[in-house]
This record gives sequence, C-alpha cells and structure tokens, in this order.
Amino acid sequence: SDSDPLQDFCVGDLKSSPSINGFPCKSGVSSSDFFFSLGGPLNTSNPNGVTVSPANVLTFPGLNTLGLSMNNVEFAPGGVNPPHSHPRASEAGIVIEGSVYVGFLTTNNTLFSKVITAGEMFVVPRGLVHFQWNVGQVKARLITAFNSQLPGAAVLPSTLFGSFPEIPNAVLTKTFRTDDKTVNNLKSKFAA
Ligand code: GLV
Ligand code: MN
Repeated sequence: SDSDPLQDFCVGDLKSSPSINGFPCKSGVSSSDFFFSLGGPLNTSNPNGVTVSPANVLTFPGLNTLGLSMNNVEFAPGGVNPPHSHPRASEAGIVIEGSVYVGFLTTNNTLFSKVITAGEMFVVPRGLVHFQWNVGQVKARLITAFNSQLPGAAVLPSTLFGSFPEIPNAVLTKTFRTDDKTVNNLKSKFAA
C-alpha cells in the first residue's frame, strides 16, 4: 500500500535522511543492490523461541519505493511470534517447514486461525493483530511478505510493558484490572 514509484527503481541512500516517503535514490547502482539473503538457519534460543530476519528498506535498500518487503521467521519447537500488528501493510505468509498455528483478530475481536504446514499460506489484513505458534515437535519456518517497504510492527507486549519512558502503572493496572505487582513483573520481562 505504499505510493507508486515514478521511475524504474530508486535504491535507497540510507546515509541521507528519509524524506516524505522513503529515502533519496543513491547513484552508482549495481546488480548487488537488487539481491539480498534472508539468512538462516537463525538462532532461536530466546524467551519467545522465535527470530525474525527482515528484508525491508533498512536492510535491503533496493526495496526503496517498490512497496514490498519480506521476513524470514524461524521458530524453535513451541516458539511464539507474539501478537503484533503492521500499521502500513497487509501480510502474506507461507510455511516452509513445520506446522504453525496462525491467527489474526478482527477489530470486533473475532479470531480467525488455523494450523498450517509446508506449502500452505495465510494472509493478515493490514493493521490487524496476529501471531504464530509452532505447534510441532521440530523447528518451523515461515516466509512473510508485505505490501510496504517498511511495514512497521507494534509488538503488543513490548509496546505496553517495554516502552521508554514507561507507561505509568496507574494506566496499566486500570487497563488490565490488575495490581502493581503484576504490572511490575511484566515490565521487568520487557524492559527496554
Ligand atoms: C509475521 O507475522 C511477520 O510479521 O513476519
Ligand atoms: Mn506480522
């Protein structure tokens, strides 16, 4: 959903400041500007058991003005890509390996979800909260694609409990109908 390009390409010059939309075009473009490795296998030993390797305009400047980006998402057994939303893009994904419970939520809090395996794909409409969970006994891997060069991600747990500066406890205890102890515990896990 990014704006349409007005030239064949405009490889981003990341050393210049982004202007209204994207980066200025760099000069001296070569083949290597249009190729990129999504990496892997990725190390998934972290609390969520998931690691995302992004190919967006910041890592792959050849995407500048093209309205596209992709992620390689790898999961340990049981790994969870936590609930998040992309303000600037719809998402399409395909499972390459493993079996993954994929879900998104509408603005009416209806959950649409399914367990999918290699070769099966899913979509997430722009801006809606979604997550994935590796329900298999072995690693799982997804490739996702976005109609934005920089879809952005609001990751709910870290947005709410790991912001800097912090959201005041009074807001979070009231919001979640809980106490300071619970909120402080969550903040300690997601500290910025
Ligand atoms: C998965 O939801 C991703 O954003 O890559
Ligand atoms: Mn996503």
